[in-house]
Amino acid sequence: MERKIDELIQQLTLEEKASLCGGASFWTTQAIERLDIPSIMMTDGPHGLRKQSGESDHLGLNQAVPATCFPTASALACSWDVELAGKVGGAIGEEAQAENVHIVLGPGVNIKRSPLCGRNFEYYSEDPVLAGDLAAAWVNGVQSQGVGTSVKHYAVNNQEYQRMSIDVQVDERTLREIYLAGFERVVKTALPWTVMCAYNKVNGILCAEHKELLSEILRDEWGFEGVVVSDWGAVDVRVNSLKAGLDLQMPGIGDSPVKAIMAAVNGGEMDETALDDAVRNSLRILFRAVEKHREGSTYDQKAHHALAREAAGECIVLLKNQDDILPLEKANLKKIAVIGAFAKTPRYQGGGSSHINPTQLDTAYDEILSLSGSDLAVGYADGYVIASDDVDDSLIDQARTVAESADLAVLFVGLPDRYESEGYDREHIRLPESHGRMIDAVCSVQNHVVVVLINGSPVSMEPWGEAVGAIIEGGLLGQAGGGAIADVLFGEVNPSGKLAETIPYQLSDTPSHLNFPGKKRKVQYREGVFVGYRYYDAKGMAVRYPFGFGLSYTTFDYSNLSVSKKEVVDTEGVEVNVIVKNTGAYYGKEIVQVYVRDIECREARPDKELKAFSKVGLDPGEEKTLTFHLGFRDFAYYEDQINDWYVETGDFDILVGRSSRDICLKETIAVSGTKVLKDTFDRHSTIGELMQDPEGMKAVGMIFGLLKSRSERKSEAVSDDMMQAMMRFAPLRTVMSWSKGAFNEEKLEELLKTLNQ
Ligand code: BGC
Repeated sequence: MERKIDELIQQLTLEEKASLCGGASFWTTQAIERLDIPSIMMTDGPHGLRKQSGESDHLGLNQAVPATCFPTASALACSWDVELAGKVGGAIGEEAQAENVHIVLGPGVNIKRSPLCGRNFEYYSEDPVLAGDLAAAWVNGVQSQGVGTSVKHYAVNNQEYQRMSIDVQVDERTLREIYLAGFERVVKTALPWTVMCAYNKVNGILCAEHKELLSEILRDEWGFEGVVVSDWGAVDVRVNSLKAGLDLQMPGIGDSPVKAIMAAVNGGEMDETALDDAVRNSLRILFRAVEKHREGSTYDQKAHHALAREAAGECIVLLKNQDDILPLEKANLKKIAVIGAFAKTPRYQGGGSSHINPTQLDTAYDEILSLSGSDLAVGYADGYVIASDDVDDSLIDQARTVAESADLAVLFVGLPDRYESEGYDREHIRLPESHGRMIDAVCSVQNHVVVVLINGSPVSMEPWGEAVGAIIEGGLLGQAGGGAIADVLFGEVNPSGKLAETIPYQLSDTPSHLNFPGKKRKVQYREGVFVGYRYYDAKGMAVRYPFGFGLSYTTFDYSNLSVSKKEVVDTEGVEVNVIVKNTGAYYGKEIVQVYVRDIECREARPDKELKAFSKVGLDPGEEKTLTFHLGFRDFAYYEDQINDWYVETGDFDILVGRSSRDICLKETIAVSGTKVLKDTFDRHSTIGELMQDPEGMKAVGMIFGLLKSRSERKSEAVSDDMMQAMMRFAPLRTVMSWSKGAFNEEKLEELLKTLNQ
């Protein structure tokens, strides 16, 4: 194939090559018929297919052909289930085949920096390991069907406010450890066909023109061999972006970029080999797409709907279940009240380019009716109007009346479409006032209240979080979400999801609060690596529900944590085993999380970081041993001094738990780093810095000796220890002035020479 591509490049004219660097239309690439170069089709988007048959747009305005709407990435992430993500990806791949789509524009791997980002529902997590592993599984699933993916939005696209112009100011270590790490996992492990560059700037440079991101990191470091495609309309100066490594400009915008590229090559501004490289990347994917396309294939809509229900069931997170109010025991109930317009008019996806036209849509109300059986009466009230935040007292009165006459009330509340969408951010994390007032009214007459939340990102639960008996985090569950909620309410499915992002008490608690969404077209990521639980845990701050948290109808016991070695070399890594047992009465699934803590480090590091996880299903009384492998990167941080990942020799805690705040088992191991970090010293280096280095320590001894020999100190008020402590922050240059000539410029120069050898 590579030979054929090279031959084709020889035969293409300059104009043809330039034309292959941009789309032919909104969703298709350029064909060159005389050389049998095909055109392929790309469409959105992460949780199902949005193939437009009529008018095209990238904001979800025009209708698309029917496709299965699976849970959004924010919900799927709560499943912590890589197998499931793969199955969902596989189903989307099948639908793409049936609709003659060659590349699906997803997944979105951006980190949730703030709960306000309007597009958080399209993203997985505040943690790059969770986001990266689930996205990689999804990519593998789609691509197993011979359909490509586009990992987006590369990179650091964490807000919608000024998303096309904002300049993200972020330091290298934060970039690597938090914002690129998820992309890196997907690129290295799942080999996506394409990566989509983001609209925003990173440290002053548009992503579309960011050579370091698009070429040096993505290709040279991570080994990416696919196509870098622009987000729709992200290219400014085509030649600059081509030089930086952006292969394909989308959508097609006519021949002006073609002319610009030709002029740059003819005028010697751009080497033709850069153009050839982009064309080579594109041709590879175009031919692969066409070769893998299965003309005339179909898919089973019913089976995909069933998968959407199964997936939704795995995503639901049970946050509170006081006195085991759930699952509903039909034998003990005569009547339940279902309240909230979302029960009959579901919100199941977000707005914008990912908006899907579902093949069918289940409502929670209908599904509750079908599971309730003939002996359980189900009352209903709207409680609020979805289209407005205004409080309608008559609807609240009706809700109160229905709730009062029932044994238990299930309330559906959450965020209407207008609250979260591509294109803009939320301004607060509260529920609409009408929803909050309705909850209060129902709680005033009913002691058994279950709240089902429908939302693409966290909402504050103040003040009602304490008052209600149970809280189900439903997220945006896709077209079969209504059935999945009913399944969990009645215990047909034991909830097994866990939070993929922390739920804070209030917006002002969030790590980016003082620097979101930025000013004057710049946003500073001043919280650094302390994003999500990395921040809350380092501060020991109370949160409403921590990262990784979720309840079950059964209970799990963790025991026998063991590590293969207590002393390890970073490159070899270590195997971690733990036994998990179902100690309750229901079949259930547990998500076991492995965190690593660097006990002492020369850099400020989070209290703990997620490094591995596994979801395991267990019958009552059953136990299983889970095995995890931790390697070099699991102990490393990104060290600016060497522009590379680095493990500092020392002790590390291996923490195994149910959530970031519920660590049940711990082992401490000694890790030896194989990379040597050699500090260089100069006249401004302090005594304290010298003390960190074995050679430097010797020099300190020498310096103290000199100082002592010249000291006339008689006073007992300053002991040797105090002297050392005080000297810790003294730069070498100042020592000269205290030594009365014993430590002079000559000695300093000599010392620096020895130390820096
Ligand atoms: C979005 C992308 C999407 C593209 C095409 C853009 O506005 O940011 O995520 O894939 O449009 O619809």
